[in-house]
Amino acid sequence: MISDLKQTCDVLIVGSGAAGLTLALSVAEHMSVILLSKNDLKEGSTLYAQGGIAAVLDEQDSIASHVEDTMNAGAYLCDPQVVKFTAEQAKPALEWLIQQGVAFDTEPSQDGTPHYHLTREGGHSYRRILHSADATGKELQTSLQQQVFDHKNIRILPYHHAIDLITTKKLGQAGHRVLGAYAWDEHKQRVKTIHSRFVVIATGGASQVYQYTSNPNISSGDGIAMAWRAGCRVANMEFNQFHPTCLYHPQARNFLLTEALRGEGAHLVRPDGSRFMFDFDERGELAPRDIVARAIDFEMKRLGLDCLFLDISHKSAPWIQQHFPTIYARCLALGIDITQERMPIVPAAHYTCGGVMTDLNGQTDLNGLYAVGEVSYTGLHGANRMASNSLLECIVFARSAATSILNLRHHYSVPTHLPLWDESHVVNSDEEVIISHNWHELRLFMWDYVGIVRSDKRLARALRRISLLQSEIQEYYSHFKVSGHLLELRNLVQVSELIVRCAQTRKESRGLHYNIDYPEKLQKRTPTILQPD
Ligand code: FAD
Ligand code: SIN
Repeated sequence: MISDLKQTCDVLIVGSGAAGLTLALSVAEHMSVILLSKNDLKEGSTLYAQGGIAAVLDEQDSIASHVEDTMNAGAYLCDPQVVKFTAEQAKPALEWLIQQGVAFDTEPSQDGTPHYHLTREGGHSYRRILHSADATGKELQTSLQQQVFDHKNIRILPYHHAIDLITTKKLGQAGHRVLGAYAWDEHKQRVKTIHSRFVVIATGGASQVYQYTSNPNISSGDGIAMAWRAGCRVANMEFNQFHPTCLYHPQARNFLLTEALRGEGAHLVRPDGSRFMFDFDERGELAPRDIVARAIDFEMKRLGLDCLFLDISHKSAPWIQQHFPTIYARCLALGIDITQERMPIVPAAHYTCGGVMTDLNGQTDLNGLYAVGEVSYTGLHGANRMASNSLLECIVFARSAATSILNLRHHYSVPTHLPLWDESHVVNSDEEVIISHNWHELRLFMWDYVGIVRSDKRLARALRRISLLQSEIQEYYSHFKVSGHLLELRNLVQVSELIVRCAQTRKESRGLHYNIDYPEKLQKRTPTILQPD
């Protein structure tokens, strides 16, 4: 029994989306890997990604243009060095994915040889998005996952929730290093202690802090909360991206309508059929997401509407069915034929631009600890992520983190004697209802007070409620055995606090952060960095 509770590896990777899988495959030839996923391996935002991955492949296009578009979409809060690095690494990253068997759509070129079909999304000056129809994430996730299943050096632990990192500081030891993590085995209801030389957090984003989101349930910000508790800096959490077009339908919570629809000519319209985006931005429907989501929010509030509409029915039916088969089928199943009628839409929380601070190698403030993918703050996205730059960041930074880990692999030994999880003072929970109640309360007031439009008063109100919930949840956590929902709630409330604190620090409106008390942009551009005590 004890041996099962203690596990050992070279690299512990928490998360099995694009970032975690890429990292696992990039180190496993040389090091033993444990790959944790708190659900089935495939469940995460990656699986649901639709639009695609950005890379400069068109001859007219250039790295300089990809850099400028990213900086512009990010309201010039991006780190130029990081943006350049990512844009330059895009092509090799895509080539690596293709080697792994990921199939992107092709089309015949003028000389008859197939080349990759590039689509377009908001903020991009050129066609720059490689995709697999409108289900790019599924293609990527399933292809990489297959490679991971086949790898003898990768031990997969699904339905294991990482609870907290084990560090030298927490154990009162010298040094500033991560030593492993505690993970709750959902099936056996036990907590395992995993000893490792390196830990990689690849847990995705935190959009579940909001009532309405395009993200799956796993996006509860666990990695951000764990790294913060372990002493890492966190940055730019005020920049939550709201995707402008999620389907508004009672039976289709979370279903996204890809920006590629607008890239290929779909119009945003009011109930009377009139277009409105040109009233807000000269780029119309292809303005960056922060602008489009705010315009929709404004029009909905102005006209007292529950939703607005997206219309692509002016394109031919066969063309729509070929380019957007998933969306066509899903909408049809709900009684909406998108070749004939428009789709009802609302904005929903979509992407966490901030996160755990890292360098170009994904290295965090703690030796041996890396953060890659949506959990991280690398400096790429600034105040608003440009479409299809996220999967790109996952692959580029997972590969640079893997190189760094391989280079440092002889630096650290595997820790031997870590304390087992102590359950001697806790009992089974007696009131699960507290967890579900707090969960709903948190997500609702975050939506109302810390959403697309903020004010000082709303932020202060949210912070007061957060601190009440924090003390209630902490008390619950100290007395009762852990459960998946309790762990997630503890993390969600921690991340909410970080979001509000960052939002209160920023005395301007920039990109995704819009505060009616400071509607202007400041001259000076600085990221918001929070330092743990
Ligand atoms: P995820 O894919 O979210 O994976 C997180 C992993 O961490 C999961 O395996 C989960 O189980 C695990 N995990 C979390 N917490 C724990 C824990 N405590 N213990 C153990 N495991 C844990 N981006 C683009 O660039 N292009 C697109 O077209 C695009 N479309 C999108 C469409 C949708 C609907 C959504 C939601 C997002 C989209 N994005 C897109 C964003 C992009 O998909 C994500 O940012 C990206 O997939 C994140 O990958 P990741 O590996 O960081 O995390
Ligand atoms: C989409 O397909 O609209 C999502 C793209 C992204 O989030 O990058």
